Order: sequence, then C-alpha cells, then structure tokens
Amino acid sequence: MYVLGIWDGHDAGAAIVRDNKILVAVNEERFTKKKLDIGFPENSVKECLKFTNLKPTHIQKIAVTTTDFAKTLTRLVPGMKDKYYLFRRRKVEKPRLDESRRHFKYTATEIKELPLCRKLSNIYFKGHLNSLGFRDYEIHWVDHHAAHAAAAAICSGFDKALAITLDGVGDALSGTVNIFEEGEIKRISSIPARDSFGIFYEQITTLLGMRELEDEGKVMALADFAYQVPDEENKLIDFFEVDGLQVKCKYSTIGKYSRLKKILWNTPREELAFMAQRTIEKHITQLFKNAIDETGIKNVCWSGGIASNIKVNLKVRQESGMKDWFVFPHMGDGGLAAGAALYLCLQEVGKPARRLENAYLGNEFSNNEIEESLRKYRKKVSFEYREDIAKYAGEYLANGNFMLWYQGRMEFGPRALGNRSIIAPSSPIEIKDKLNLQIKKRSWFQPFCPSLLEEHAKKIFSDVDSYDRFMTMGYWTRPEIRDKVISVINVDGSARPQMLGDENPRFRELLKTVAKKTGLGVILNTSFNLHGYPIVNTPEDAVDMMLNSKAPAMAVGNFLVEIKK
Ligand SMILES: [Fe+2]
Repeated sequence: MYVLGIWDGHDAGAAIVRDNKILVAVNEERFTKKKLDIGFPENSVKECLKFTNLKPTHIQKIAVTTTDFAKTLTRLVPGMKDKYYLFRRRKVEKPRLDESRRHFKYTATEIKELPLCRKLSNIYFKGHLNSLGFRDYEIHWVDHHAAHAAAAAICSGFDKALAITLDGVGDALSGTVNIFEEGEIKRISSIPARDSFGIFYEQITTLLGMRELEDEGKVMALADFAYQVPDEENKLIDFFEVDGLQVKCKYSTIGKYSRLKKILWNTPREELAFMAQRTIEKHITQLFKNAIDETGIKNVCWSGGIASNIKVNLKVRQESGMKDWFVFPHMGDGGLAAGAALYLCLQEVGKPARRLENAYLGNEFSNNEIEESLRKYRKKVSFEYREDIAKYAGEYLANGNFMLWYQGRMEFGPRALGNRSIIAPSSPIEIKDKLNLQIKKRSWFQPFCPSLLEEHAKKIFSDVDSYDRFMTMGYWTRPEIRDKVISVINVDGSARPQMLGDENPRFRELLKTVAKKTGLGVILNTSFNLHGYPIVNTPEDAVDMMLNSKAPAMAVGNFLVEIKK
C-alpha cells in the first residue's frame, strides 16, 4: 500500500511511503526556486509519482496535516501567505503596521481548529488533487505534532523510545512528549503555543534583523561570539519554567515580543543571541531529563524545528541522561509530508520501526541526462567524462582547492550530505571566508560543517557515542586536531559533522582519497546554493550557480565541468 503525504505550509513538500519506508520525498522550493516555499506542492507531488512510476489513480491513501485556524485561513485566502512570505523574507519595505501584523499572526496561530476548518481544508485539497488526476482516494488528517513525532519515531529504528517534538507552532501546540512502543505513539504531554520555545527563538531572530523561520541558525552561530553571560545575569533565563513535562512561559506571545524589544534596547546583539541560546538549552535539557526520569525510557528521538539547533541537541545528548538518540534529518515543517504519511502507514500497517538508512530520497539524473543538459551550455563551459571522478575530486581538494559536487539522488532536508554539495579542504581558515563571502554570499560568522569517514570520527571528536549520518548533532573536536579542521568547526571547538558509512560509495571514495593524501578523511561540506536560495535541483541549476559564483570546477555525475576562459 502506497501512502502519499502532502504538506502545504512553510517548506511545502510531498512524500510517498510504503511499509513505513520513505520511497521518495522532495520539497517544493527546489522546483519553484523560492526558498521554503508555501502552498500546495504540485511539483513535488508530480515528482514523487514520477520517481515511483505511479499514476495518481494508483494512490488511495493520502495523508495531510494541520487544520488549525491560521493554516486554514491561508488555504482559503492564498494572498495572505504570499504577503507574509515576502514580509518574513524582508523582500518588501517595512510595512507601517508590521507590529499589528505580528500580533495578528500570533493570535491566529494560537487558535485551535474550529468546526469548519477541516471541512474547508478538505475542499481545498480535493480541488488540487482532482485537478492532478487523483480519483477514489481517502484524505486522512494527521495532527501536526503527531506527524513530527511519527517521523522521528518510525525512522529511529527503536522498538521503544521517547519521541519529543518541539517547534514554533502547529495545530495550536509547540511541543509534545510521546511514548513510542509496539507500533503506537502515545502522547503524554502537550506544550501550548503560548509557551513556545520556537516562537521565542523566532522573535529573537526577527529582532536581530534576520529572517524568522529561516535564519535561526545564524542566531545560534552569533551566540558563539558573545561574552558568556552567567545565568544570574541572563535577562531571558526566567522567561520559561519547566515543571515535570509542563513548560510555562512567563509572558504571552505578544507580551514576550514587547519584553524582548525592551531588553534589546540596551543589550549587544551577540549577547542577546547568547542569552536566548542558553535559555532554550537549559530548559529543553530539563524537559528531556524530566521525561527520561518520569518514564524510565532512555532511548530518545526528536523532531520539529527546534531539533535543527545542534547546540541544544548536544546539550540534551550529554546532560539529560539519555542512552541512544535519533534526530529526524528533515526536522522542520519540510519533513511533515513524510511524517504524516509515516503516521498513517503506522496506523494501517503497524510494522515495527526501521532505522532510516540514508537521506538520499529525492530525484536524480542519469549521466545521459546530465550530458544533454551540459550541451546546452557548451559555449560557456567545457566538460569531460571521467570514470575516476571521485578520485579526481579527492585529489583536487587535497591540493587545497574547492569545487561543486552534484551526484545521485538529492538529499531530503536542509543538509547537503554529499550529493548536492560545495566541498573544500577542512583547513586552512582562509577557505571559510572565501566560501562565505565570495561564493555563498553569507555572513562572515556562519560556520561550515565537516563530512568525514566514520572510522575517523573518534580521531577528530572526543565525545562520539554513535555515528551521525545526517548532520543533526553537535560534537566537540579534540584540541590537538583543531588546526587540521579549522575551517569546519565553530569558534568554541564544536562542530556538526556528517559521519559517513557505506551509504554513499562515491562520496566515501572521495573522502578515502583525501585520507590517503592528508592522513585524515575529512572535508568541508556545505549546501550547493547561494545564501537565501534553495539547494540546486537540476544539472542546469548546478551550471547556472557555477556561472554565477565563478567556482573553479564542478563534478556533475561523471562529468568534470569548468568555465571556459
Ligand atoms: Fe512544526
């Protein structure tokens, strides 16, 4: 039985799942080129069907999620979401009434489902699905946090685990604690929208002049450059209180925003970032610890936008008393289509969980298709077929160069894991500025991440407990090795690595070539995009970005591409 999952909100997308296994999953932004695009993901649905060789009439079960008032409203009045999208991304002049808009948003997202919401959302989905040729299907509604929890629980491979979700808001909640056991997900605690850690962090992002729902990682990075404000001086630390499995915020969502604005008035930007980061780390670690202590369950999996904060993840891994852990790689709302489909599949099939083997769940192009694309650019680029492309790239990097790297199936989620990547040596430090400022056009303080052979992980990090395939966790680098990985670590010595096993043989060969030359199989790996744009989708997108960034070399499939002089 195939289940199609659809998410039409922030970072819309689609996925097809069978027997609790994700067969294909993609996000709309890769097709429309609008980062974190919102709306019915028509392109994603078509791509999922194409990849699995299915017709719309083959699909009888469709899982969709979130029927709160705010989401329903944007389904009925699409102009609202388009306006918010431009406002959020600061693509328009600051509106005169931006504060009132913000208040409206906070109020609307805290309203639970009203009686008509599901009915109206059904009409909206049926309209889109029927026009794509779907017939005789059932629409199943999955609660927002149940979808996040199912993604984490089912892909964790655990038989029994705590599944914790934390995000901004969805279906009027900002988090849940669940027990996953014998194929069932049982919710034992809910965190209301007003007490949201995610909205708090989103407000900090906005107040620091960055894009909410997009630049939260920049806030986390900025915090590393601040004076380490002790808790007694941290003006934000008592915003939250965690009591057992309950979270309480001292202020309403609107009240919180006003209070933060006042604090910002006489607080340096990086200090505010630090205080916010410390605040969520402290309270979320407490929540995880309480959940583990109360249930006695030590294997923990988690998802939701907050799970993209690797410093929070690092803290809970080390200080909550957990044994084994798993973070769903597409932790934000972009993973909801897969989560909703997995949830429904679990209800229908009830098969036990299986560990997600890899995140290469998107589309791919054959060498023939790639060659056809490259021919369109033959006046601007030269290209040659190389059987030894991974070895060539490994040696190219070991000699101090960087390149663009486009291979196999596209990654599902925000992290490039060696198929849509910009790759470079892990030192010296100068490579960081070059990539940040010249190629990706990002802020100078944003760090890069390493990809490494899993067998070299313990040489580089002092706290490896299991091998993270998906760049979801923070680890501490060994001080004696830092100069060799200086371009891929944070200023405090932490890093967010991809520890590669056998799931990507070509990328492994590249890393092994680097190891042969340098003694360490580690490189810099960042997503194949310009800052603020989605990761490239097609080979044509890849060439366009190469021409735009003037990158010196690119590997696309087996082809080595260079810009003509
Ligand atoms: Fe969410």
